[in-house]
Amino acid sequence: MATIHFIPENKTVSVAGGTNLLEAARKADVLIDAPCDGTGTCGKCRVKIPAAHRQNFKEAPHDWLTQTERAEGWVLACQSTVHGDLQVEPEQGADDELKILSEGQAVAVELNPWITKTFDAANAQTSVQAGSIAGHRAGRHYAGAVRRGGGHRHDHARGGAD
Ligand code: FES
Repeated sequence: MATIHFIPENKTVSVAGGTNLLEAARKADVLIDAPCDGTGTCGKCRVKIPAAHRQNFKEAPHDWLTQTERAEGWVLACQSTVHGDLQVEPEQGADDELKILSEGQAVAVELNPWITKTFDAANAQTSVQAGSIAGHRAGRHYAGAVRRGGGHRHDHARGGAD
């Protein structure tokens, strides 16, 4: 068994030797940012382990950390297994960035589509305009698809096959 102490949460958990460090953190109810859910493809589950404890874990090879970061004690929790007592400090941010919004947030988005489709309700007519060279090409396909009664508008607009 190994004892893992997480700071600054001040939570401790006992796990069997060979336990994945991300799983140990979850068992201790410590939140570590892990968007890829431990598959080793995001590099976000960074934790810091003091030099005195570094012989107590093993880390699978990966390219997410620089030599300097490794020298500072950073490891990826999901790529590490526990083999002795550890003190672990998750990278700040996972808890700090999560919040429940009580109001909507307005985000200004500039609309500049390659293709604009307009429906004139008064005359019951649809027109399609292209906004760039690439869009023009796509628009020609799109317009052609619309004229043909197009069930394949999406494929034509992307330049795909019929
Ligand atoms: S959780 Fe994504 S790399 Fe560890």
